[in-house]
Order: sequence, then C-alpha cells, then structure tokens
Amino acid sequence: MNKTIRVAIDGPSGAGKSTLARSAAARLGYLYVDTGAIYRTIGCAARRRGIDPGDQAAVVAMLPSLSIRLTYGEDGLQHMALDGEDVTEEIRLPEVSRYASLVSAYPEVRAYLLEMQRQLAREHSVIMDGRDIGTVVLPDAEVKVFLTASAEERARRRMLELEQRGTPEPYEAILRSIQERDWNDTHRSAAPLRQAEDAVLLDTTDLDFAQSEAALLDIIRKGAGQ
Ligand code: DC
Repeated sequence: MNKTIRVAIDGPSGAGKSTLARSAAARLGYLYVDTGAIYRTIGCAARRRGIDPGDQAAVVAMLPSLSIRLTYGEDGLQHMALDGEDVTEEIRLPEVSRYASLVSAYPEVRAYLLEMQRQLAREHSVIMDGRDIGTVVLPDAEVKVFLTASAEERARRRMLELEQRGTPEPYEAILRSIQERDWNDTHRSAAPLRQAEDAVLLDTTDLDFAQSEAALLDIIRKGAGQ
C-alpha cells in the first residue's frame, strides 16, 4: 500500500502559497488543503452572527454551535460550508480577512480546528498550507516548505493582481498592510508564523511562477522520496 505523503507549506501572506500549492497538488494527485479558508470561515461566522471579533469570550462561546464543512467541488476546488451554506466566496471579502486575522489569534479557535486539519492529512496525501502547519498541525510531515518573498515583491504582485481585477490600490498602502499582517502573524503568542527547523526555505522573490513551481515540485519529490 502506498503511504500517504504530507506536505506542509507555511509562509507569510501574499507569498503565493495557495496558487503554488494548488497547482503542485493537481500535478501530484494530492489533496490541497487551504487552512486559511477554514480560519476565514470562523471569521465569517462571527461576522454573520454580529459577534465582535475582538471579543475573545464571545468568539469562543460561538464555537460549539458551528457546523463547518470542507468539501471538494467537481472542479477539484476546495469549498467551505458554514451551517450548511456555501461561503466559499463570502470568506474572501476584505472584512472577513480582518475578522479571520483576529479570531485566528485565539488559542481556543486554533485548538478547535486542529483535529479537523489532522484528520484530512490522515485520509489523503495532502499539500496543506497555512502559518503553523509544519510547526504545530503536522510536525511529522514528510516535506516541510517555508515559502516566502520580500514584502516589496509581495506588494508588487498584489498590486498587479488588484489592477487586473479592476480594483487598483496604491503600492504604498498595499505594502503597509502586508507589513502589518506579517507583524501580526509573527508576533501573536498562539502558534506564531515561523520557519520549522526542518523546513526547506523557498524564497520566490526573484522567481516567476513556473520557476517557483518547478522548485517546489523538486523539494516535494526529493522529500517524499519519489
Ligand atoms: O492565508 P489566509 O490569508 O487565507 O489566512 C486567513 C487568516 O488566517 C490570516 O489572518 C492568517 C490566519 N491563518 C492562521 O492563523 N493559521 C493558518 N494555518 C492559516 C491561516
């Protein structure tokens, strides 16, 4: 029987984790698990229920009543359902990003989601991305990658993406918000973003998408012994 392979990818926001992870997973026939989407679904639940995301006790009290499901559509893409309703698009609203960033700092929220994430990796070969996958969720993962790029390059990519979507924003504002999120992710006390000691560093600052993907696949194949 083939052993399942667990690939943990962590890194700051805007480093291209989800695009690269999704593409590499499709090539390898692994399941892609976007854990940020799960945190966003909790943020979405707080927003829908009128709960202040800064009120830790209220957010924690909401958890037992939530029904959160992760499914895969025919397109192979990950969908999130909250209390039976598909919230895959809603969780991408900027307001939900803010809620997700606040609720993900609460240890009770992280504990609540831990088993769900581990269960997915028991059932399938996975590429799972997030902030604490190699350090907390899957510390025994066969492959660990810390994917990053300079804040300036991440801001430049985000600016191009927003321009293409027809919702441009000034470079300076984008860079500031990336730097703020980096600070929050690395300075919170619960599972802060950091590179696991046994993770391979992949810095894509000077790489285009194809080069980044080739480098990622190379790390995975070597780590998985394939
Ligand atoms: O990767 P993302 O932007 O979709 O993540 C949404 C939020 O969830 C972000 O504030 C970081 C947080 N997050 C986390 O704390 N741990 C994870 N494993 C994934 C995301």
